[in-house]
Amino acid sequence: MMLWIKALHVIAVISWMAGLLYIYRLFVYHAMEEEAAVRARFEVMERRLLNAITTPAGIVAVVTGTLMIVMATGFLRQPWMHAKLTLALGLVASHVYAIQARHRLLTAPQAVSHKRFRVLNEVPTLLMIGIVIMVIVRPWAR
Ligand code: HEM
Repeated sequence: MMLWIKALHVIAVISWMAGLLYIYRLFVYHAMEEEAAVRARFEVMERRLLNAITTPAGIVAVVTGTLMIVMATGFLRQPWMHAKLTLALGLVASHVYAIQARHRLLTAPQAVSHKRFRVLNEVPTLLMIGIVIMVIVRPWAR
């Protein structure tokens, strides 16, 4: 049972990462775009990417991860899991920021600089690298 949940967890994590890595790229092009018709296309792509893929996958990733901790509470004594959960919290924050940014791009497209989105685009990548190292290499394991 644990292995089926872990498999679903990793599947959800891959989809979550795909969405988070792509949404900020869309924001970069959207914030630079002058033409209203092209901006309208970005609005549809961003809404579908967030609502149909990224958010559901994020919820499944967090729920399956939490379920595994409930089934094996020993994980909570592991420093690598503490580090992993802290980084995962960063991913949740990056996701919430993306949801807010999408709304801001709807109401005031030029209010947010594309340069900021270029920087924010790197955050999920760096967090993901840290998380995978923590959960696979398990430094400081007890
Ligand atoms: C709040 C969010 C999360 C929680 C509570 C959580 C929790 C867990 C737990 C308890 C396991 C089982 C570890 C084991 O059986 O040894 C696990 C496995 C795993 N998690 Fe997460 N996780 C979360 C988010 C993530 C994220 C965001 C990623 C990647 C970016 C990730 C990647 C993985 C991988 C690759 C495994 C399989 C490790 C292995 O089998 O050796 N998790 N997670």
